Amino acid sequence: MNKELVLEKTKQFVKERLEGEGSGHDWWHIVRVYNNAADIAKQTKEADCFIVELGALLHDIADHKFGYTDDDRRRIISDFLGELEVSKEIIEAVVYIANNISFKSGTNKHILSTIEAKIVQDADRLDAIGAMGIGRAFTYGGYVNRPMYNPSFNNDTISHFYEKLLLLKDLMNTEIGAQKAQRRHDIMVEFLNHFYAEWNGEV
Ligand code: ADP
Ligand code: NI
Repeated sequence: MNKELVLEKTKQFVKERLEGEGSGHDWWHIVRVYNNAADIAKQTKEADCFIVELGALLHDIADHKFGYTDDDRRRIISDFLGELEVSKEIIEAVVYIANNISFKSGTNKHILSTIEAKIVQDADRLDAIGAMGIGRAFTYGGYVNRPMYNPSFNNDTISHFYEKLLLLKDLMNTEIGAQKAQRRHDIMVEFLNHFYAEWNGEV
């Protein structure tokens, strides 16, 4: 098995399936998660970089939001990587990542059992906060036709910061992930302060 070739083919496969996806899980989200995950993995001695990279590339394939089940993801990932002669152990590790890292698992205090899954989950969470997180939140809000802010009800995009985005920095698994998250968190807090000041005509 040629790892470089497998990664190249996986990139092509994921890109074809996700290009143009409008809700914030497009191909560029995958690229950012991949880069962040690879960066954390490089600095984490015990992590298998190849599994982290494959897991990052495939983590949003066949998303449950579009009706896919854990079994669908297992089948799609196993068929694809099996064709490329990736070993059963590696396929299992990648399927585990795709089936276990979503935020919902996090809130249920589901403890991830592999360092590779912890790293990909951190990288996915990093892309939900900071400047990227702000951009994605408003993109998502537009996609589902939600107002950016309404002080008298909470079905708006600003509420999403309090329900999810500001909580993420305390849920990071790795030391390096936590450091990156803190910087991104601070940017969101600054953004929100400025947002209210502008909303009230104070600046
Ligand atoms: P995940 O990346 O964990 O699968 P989601 O699918 O829930 O997360 O969300 C994708 C992107 O859309 C994220 O950046 C998330 O913060 C954003 N998002 C999800 N729900 C909302 C919401 N109600 N309002 C604004 N943004 C949202
Ligand atoms: Ni994701």
